[in-house]
Amino acid sequence: MREQNTSTAGKSLPAISFQNVSKTYRGGQFRALDGVSFDIGQGEFFGLLGPNGAGKTSLISILAGLAQASGGQVSVLGADVVKDYAAARRQLGIVPQELVFDPFFSVRESLRIQSGYFGVRNNEAWIDELLHELGLSDKANANMRQLSGGMKRRVLVAQALVHRPPVIVLDEPTAGVDVELRQTLWQFIARLNREGHTVLLTTHYLEEAEALCGRLAMLKQGRIVALDRTSDLLKGRAASMLRFKTDAALPEVLLPQARITGRIVQIKAHDAAEVEQVLATLRAAHCPVEDLEIGRADLEDVFLEIMQGEARPQAQTQAQVQEGVAA
Ligand SMILES: Nc1ncnc2c1ncn2[C@@H]1O[C@H](COP(=O)(O)OP(=O)(O)OP(=O)(O)O)[C@@H](O)[C@H]1O
Ligand SMILES: [Mg+2]
Repeated sequence: MREQNTSTAGKSLPAISFQNVSKTYRGGQFRALDGVSFDIGQGEFFGLLGPNGAGKTSLISILAGLAQASGGQVSVLGADVVKDYAAARRQLGIVPQELVFDPFFSVRESLRIQSGYFGVRNNEAWIDELLHELGLSDKANANMRQLSGGMKRRVLVAQALVHRPPVIVLDEPTAGVDVELRQTLWQFIARLNREGHTVLLTTHYLEEAEALCGRLAMLKQGRIVALDRTSDLLKGRAASMLRFKTDAALPEVLLPQARITGRIVQIKAHDAAEVEQVLATLRAAHCPVEDLEIGRADLEDVFLEIMQGEARPQAQTQAQVQEGVAA
């Protein structure tokens, strides 16, 4: 079994448990998920990362009961998402990646209907608080059709939270959302997390994941290739990043470890000796360097390193990493 003992939560019953989950499409010809196993403890703020098509939404759809796994088990606070669907679904608030809404209702009506769907009565105070927290108070009576894309996404977040679920799942909630709402949304979700709600988040904004998530899983082609505390993932990989500008061609030996965006070059280094080595190589090649900075590697650097399959496996995740990149 992989990744069984990595849950950090104090309470024993996991908020979400994925056990050996697989999913195939096109009559079994395409495998979108391949033996995914991990637990998310109660109260965690957990990030699920991976490039487009890695399988994040497929995993969340299985969790939400919107798609059926081809193999394996998924449970929410002990309730199996297939055998005990209603109990599992009640514990979950899901913000889907796709914008789905009923064009005939106002924002407030949509939230009332969603409350009714979960059998929650007298929910006006909480609906008002959600509208306020998500900056939707002045749109409460607007028809869903009249909202911009970012506002519709805010309504989806409100809908997911209307029955106060203990487990909140957000599939790219900030895609297309402006900076201000992103900040208010994260403050609100962080508050719910402090109050004990478990959060599972997928996002392509890695600085958000780095700031918010205590633990992260990385999916690549349907397999887990990293699963660790965010701080340990950052510590265990390239520690430093040299950033500079140059108009010259980079010495060939540095190319494999360099990320080049126009004139800007970023080169990772694992320790101070490697930093010196890179600088010496640049000097020897008479490569002119402007605006040199040496900073800490961030989650984006770690993510790219892992996705490019050149990661230095850590003791804790070695088995998973090897298994993940072996395919
Ligand atoms: N209904 C479907 N039929 C066939 N293939 C599908 C279906 N849904 C997803 N896939 C395929 O499964 C793989 C995983 O898709 P998924 O939507 O889970 O990725 P993702 O990690 O959420 O990506 P993104 O970051 O783009 O949202 C992709 O190759 C996708 O094309
Ligand atoms: Mg997706």
